[in-house]
Amino acid sequence: MPAGLLGIEDLDRSAIEALLSRAKDFQPLQSQSLKKLDTLRGKMIVNLFYEASTRTRTSFEIAAKRMGADAVSITASSSSVSKGESLVDTLNTLAAMRPDAIVMRHAASGAPHFLSRHLPTPIINAGDGTHEHPTQALLDARTILDRRAQLQGLRVAIIGDIAHSRVARSNVHLLSKFGAHIVLCGPASLLPRELEQLAPGVSLTTDIREAIRDADVIMMLRVQLERQHEAAFPANEYFQFYGLRLDHLDLAKPDAIVMHPQPMNRGIEIASDVADGPQSVIRDQVRNGVAVRMAVLEAVAATRGRNA
Ligand code: CP
Repeated sequence: MPAGLLGIEDLDRSAIEALLSRAKDFQPLQSQSLKKLDTLRGKMIVNLFYEASTRTRTSFEIAAKRMGADAVSITASSSSVSKGESLVDTLNTLAAMRPDAIVMRHAASGAPHFLSRHLPTPIINAGDGTHEHPTQALLDARTILDRRAQLQGLRVAIIGDIAHSRVARSNVHLLSKFGAHIVLCGPASLLPRELEQLAPGVSLTTDIREAIRDADVIMMLRVQLERQHEAAFPANEYFQFYGLRLDHLDLAKPDAIVMHPQPMNRGIEIASDVADGPQSVIRDQVRNGVAVRMAVLEAVAATRGRNA
């Protein structure tokens, strides 16, 4: 495991397996009445979010506290970023207070990678632009492995706004390393052809029925209007062509699971009766987010400073 966690692309299988296995150890803790460990007692985790977040920011904060660390959360609107302070100055200021890790979300792809080259503090990428969202892919893998013995050979359909999705990219890297077949599906304007070359085992289609046929996993994505400079598909027709409906599930394997990283737009990319139905594991994904982030924080922060 490198000093921080910037992406899935550069992690090898054994590092991913170690994190997923450790997250499994932490799963039972989430339903116990006493949820707190002292593994990271005395450590300080800073959450710095330049983009909105409900799940990632909250679950990193909960994970830090459950590991016994102190956690501080800062949003761009509540920091001196709103007074014009640069990203580098903000991070240097935070690093000077000697946190043990900085968890960071930023709209610019590559921002955490750039900063990690200039700061002594390990950085955990909580989503950078359209590039990667590594802990989302880890919690997705944990959720799939809670239902399937292995990732090898699974058919995973990832459907929606692929072009702008850091979730899709991190999942492609992870699933490909473990031998899954990944079908990326969306309107042609949101499905860059070059993604077929992103990793082995990836194919593309613009036909949702073709993507879902025989799928073990159906992963729906939000249309990210905030990252689109012009409308990529008529909004009022999106659900008709790319929304997941109950009848679509008949095309998939009988025990196929439905996933969504959230936030989700009900009635746009997914029907409510599917999101809340028996094949949905969307709430399991949220629950696993805490266990996975505990594993990541432990790997990044637990041994830090011991040899310094
Ligand atoms: N899945 C995810 O990253 O959700 P948030 O944007 O709420 O953190």
